[in-house]
Amino acid sequence: MNKVIGTAVNRKDGLAKVTGKATYAAEHQIPGLVHGYLITSAIANGRIRLISTEAAEKAPGVIAVITHKNAPQIFKPTNNFISSKIYETRLPLADEQIHYAGQIVGLVVADTFERARDAAHLVRVEYDLETPLIDPSKATYKPAVSLFGQKMEFRFGEFSAGTEETDSSGASLEATYTTSTELHTPMEPHAIIAHWQGDSLTVYEASQWVMGTQRTYAELFGIPSEKVRIVTPYIGGAFGSKAFPWPHGVLCSAVARQIQRPLKVVVSRRQMTANTGHRSETEQTVRLTAALDGKLAGIVHTAKSATSPVEEFAEPCTTITPAMYAAPNIQTSQTIATLNVGTPIFMRAPGEAPGMWAMESAMDELAWKLNLDPVELRLKNETQTHLQNNLPFSSKHFADCLQEGARRFGWQNRPPQLRTLASDGQLIGWGMAASTFPALRGNASAKVRLLPDGRVNVLTAANDIGTGTYTMVAITAAETLGVSVDRVKVEIGDSLFPDGGIAGGSRMTASLAPAVQQACQNLLKSGNFATTAEALKELQQCGRAALEATGSSAPSREGKQWAFQSWGAHFCEVTVDEELGRLRVTRWVSAMDIGRVMNAKAAASQIRGGIIMGIGEALMEECLFDPNTGHPVVYDLATYHYPCHADVPRIDVTFVGKPDLEFNPLGVRGAGEIGITGVAAAIANAVYHATGRRLRSLPLTPDKLI
Ligand code: MOS
Repeated sequence: MNKVIGTAVNRKDGLAKVTGKATYAAEHQIPGLVHGYLITSAIANGRIRLISTEAAEKAPGVIAVITHKNAPQIFKPTNNFISSKIYETRLPLADEQIHYAGQIVGLVVADTFERARDAAHLVRVEYDLETPLIDPSKATYKPAVSLFGQKMEFRFGEFSAGTEETDSSGASLEATYTTSTELHTPMEPHAIIAHWQGDSLTVYEASQWVMGTQRTYAELFGIPSEKVRIVTPYIGGAFGSKAFPWPHGVLCSAVARQIQRPLKVVVSRRQMTANTGHRSETEQTVRLTAALDGKLAGIVHTAKSATSPVEEFAEPCTTITPAMYAAPNIQTSQTIATLNVGTPIFMRAPGEAPGMWAMESAMDELAWKLNLDPVELRLKNETQTHLQNNLPFSSKHFADCLQEGARRFGWQNRPPQLRTLASDGQLIGWGMAASTFPALRGNASAKVRLLPDGRVNVLTAANDIGTGTYTMVAITAAETLGVSVDRVKVEIGDSLFPDGGIAGGSRMTASLAPAVQQACQNLLKSGNFATTAEALKELQQCGRAALEATGSSAPSREGKQWAFQSWGAHFCEVTVDEELGRLRVTRWVSAMDIGRVMNAKAAASQIRGGIIMGIGEALMEECLFDPNTGHPVVYDLATYHYPCHADVPRIDVTFVGKPDLEFNPLGVRGAGEIGITGVAAAIANAVYHATGRRLRSLPLTPDKLI
């Protein structure tokens, strides 16, 4: 059998993407298409007193002007994350209430985009203004609940014993770390085309969850799922913001039904700041107590985040804490405030990214306090058990990540004092941090067809948010059937295919690869073929169009026995120019344990992408809301800063994991999110080594470095 899994395979969709042949949501050509333009609120809190649409209705090309006064009928979906979910739960145009600046208050439909936009500006809205609450320091916090309604708190051990540990028997520290609001900035902005034919709906919209989105739209309009088709072959980045339909998608589909015309709504970058989610700012306090040898005695981790008035989404900063280190006493809790800002949402490693910023910064502070090497401190506190459910990790190579990362970086040469490395008037610092992300797996199915000319088709209603699903599916089929990757054609992103699962929580590969493998094995089994060549011979002789089989895969009881988690370690070098306040990341080494690597090239790219996003979180990504108006002061690709090539050094990624065969038959975990975790801490830890300054507030902008 040819060995494909684990080699470096080029993206199946790469050529289409770089030549403009990949069709994104807004690019599908539908005859008779009309255009919608969103009208959004100028105020952040209050009510619409008057909305006058006469001028817009008379404008050239205008087909409809929709406001809360003539809003189309929409049903509330089940909203349980299993069958269906919309963000936010309040339906668009539900009433005259304004909850945040930029909230959708209307939609103008016209024959061209320009005419719709022009007419939208003719709609006059008058408000009864109330003072918005924008500043989180003025907000009231209450205990936060998880997506499934549980209180976000955890206690392990006899906590008082840990907290009362005094400095004579060890060290303790308590510090507060903050992160800023981050905007979702995928290359492809949010857009939808809704096309009704009678009572059947076709939706062209980027979706991380094809079948869930199908069910959601079906529930919104009270029709069976089979009447809804979701088409999403290409997605230009999602990161959590395209997991569930947002108000513009719900509204577009409803209005398209009312006017019985195919309707397109493109959300501008500025409109996206309020209507398609962001990562909430957070404030976290970490308290660590440890013995003089570095053994942790206690961890207290609390987090605050903010949500909108119409949905509770708590950035789950503390959920990772019970998995990290073997402290006998752990306590976590989260609180949340309601602000007049848009609804926050999942963003790459939601919770883990800010959570590991706080935890891994605190671990570095503790290492300095105890005069221990930070790698040593982490090795000393490694846990083989997840302390939340008391289950052993199925396959954990965290120590290898730390040791191999340190070796490749040359960590043993690190000067153990602050402010000792310098070059050309710039201080140089080295920092490191741990990286982690849980491994999730869901249900998935796929169909495989073998054609008489030896080509193979795989069809599944999965999606590729840029993570490499097309290629991963092809690799799995090629390996299982013993054919070359070039012979495998993959078709995904269509609800007509078998349910391919959700691309969320880094679970797509672990869910789908075993299903594709199963489908290929079923195809061979169906005719008792020993090889694909035998199957092909039979196929050619009998003159059939294709041999076909489906396969499904689902987690079983293994989750009752094991905890599944991926691990990593980041090592970096920074330079700091204290006169200019300029911080640059100049060198990066990461060693990761993600179970079996399916595609060496794509996996390394996923980790690099996560690290680059982490560099953004650490150095520049920040969205402030005007405390008076509630509007974001940055709102597009020009004003919201994120890393470009010049901000990113060469990133050395190496994999040290082993196939995690307790997890699934291929032993594969996820690679999509783990890369970002720990990055900001590694950078701030390096800044401390360079300058002696402990920075606890992200991003590390020049004003904090001078
Ligand atoms: Mo991810 S934040 O689960 O798309």
